[in-house]
Amino acid sequence: MEATRAREVPRTADEVAAYVVAAAVWAPSVHNTQPWRFCAQGAEIALYADGGRQLTVADPGGREMIMSCGAALFTAQLALRSLGYVPETRVLPDPGDPLLIARLRWRRQAAPTPPEEQLFSAITRRRTHRGGFEPVPVPFRLVEILREDAAWHGAALRVAISDQSRAVLAAITRNADQVERLDSAFVRELASWTPPPGSMRLDGVPVSAYPAHVDLTDPNFPGRDFGRPYGWGLPLSARISPTRVTGVVCLLTTRQDGPAAWVSAGQALQRILLTATTCGIAVALHSQPVEVSWLREAIRTQLGDGSYPQLVLRLGTAIQDATSVRRPAASVLSITPRALQWAR
Ligand SMILES: Cc1cc2nc3c(=O)[nH]c(=O)nc-3n(C[C@H](O)[C@H](O)[C@H](O)COP(=O)(O)O)c2cc1C
Repeated sequence: MEATRAREVPRTADEVAAYVVAAAVWAPSVHNTQPWRFCAQGAEIALYADGGRQLTVADPGGREMIMSCGAALFTAQLALRSLGYVPETRVLPDPGDPLLIARLRWRRQAAPTPPEEQLFSAITRRRTHRGGFEPVPVPFRLVEILREDAAWHGAALRVAISDQSRAVLAAITRNADQVERLDSAFVRELASWTPPPGSMRLDGVPVSAYPAHVDLTDPNFPGRDFGRPYGWGLPLSARISPTRVTGVVCLLTTRQDGPAAWVSAGQALQRILLTATTCGIAVALHSQPVEVSWLREAIRTQLGDGSYPQLVLRLGTAIQDATSVRRPAASVLSITPRALQWAR
């Protein structure tokens, strides 16, 4: 990412905006749809959801699109902190414009803290993991920190501790996965975000991002079938152990359900993913069980406190070979042409 190059400092407001967006595009997004665009004006960036990139079958309400934008918002805020700016954020500032996710201004300065710098340095290193994990325990203290990360944004990271709760979540994920595989509209939509080998596309999930083989763990959480049915994907690495484990199973939840809660969930998600990355822990994501509404409701009623499930996460140790792609910041940012060098 050019945003980190040789600690050259962007000077004008437009240069800062370009630097920030060059970091923000590395946020995770559902099927790597990158459903965002940014408008810079003075010392302010407006972050919009790009409705043309919404998954109309899997995500008709736009929940995952807005969560993805929430993850980009957290990343943008972190990029501002890396420059020593204090972000002032207004989330969903205009009720008349539901696609306007946030306005981000910077006026005051304060040196970034070491944890902020560490999180910033993890932005481009972080990759979504797919499959089982190495049989190495995840430190309990880290799980506690990740729970605090979620709480910071008003979300909760609930750990499925008992064998029973892990088995129930796995079974619901398998059911959801099956429901989606049997739905031809859903399969077509997934295929449209699965570029074939050799593709030059800068969005969607490339073959370098998922394994060609299926890892069976106990309990088993099926991964998305991106290009595996066609034999695409990364070959099995000789470095991974033959025994693969499920890892720590968690559920990201919010007290409310609606655009503001989804932005919070996305911010919490990215903070969790970056913290885990700095500690050498990989994270696998499963949104199948929250895409099938009656299964999402089944999870919610199981929780007992009425919270809304937003995503299933598994944490563990992995040898990461996966790579991903992004559209350049310049293609999602409206700004003066001179500042664009910072967006490359
Ligand atoms: C809301 C949301 C839902 C996601 N759901 C899944 C999922 O079900 N399965 C999966 O493998 N990845 C899932 N992902 C991860 C994206 O596929 C991933 O972020 C994207 O392909 C970019 O790759 P990267 O995270 O390695 O940069 C999800 C990400 C977000 C933000």
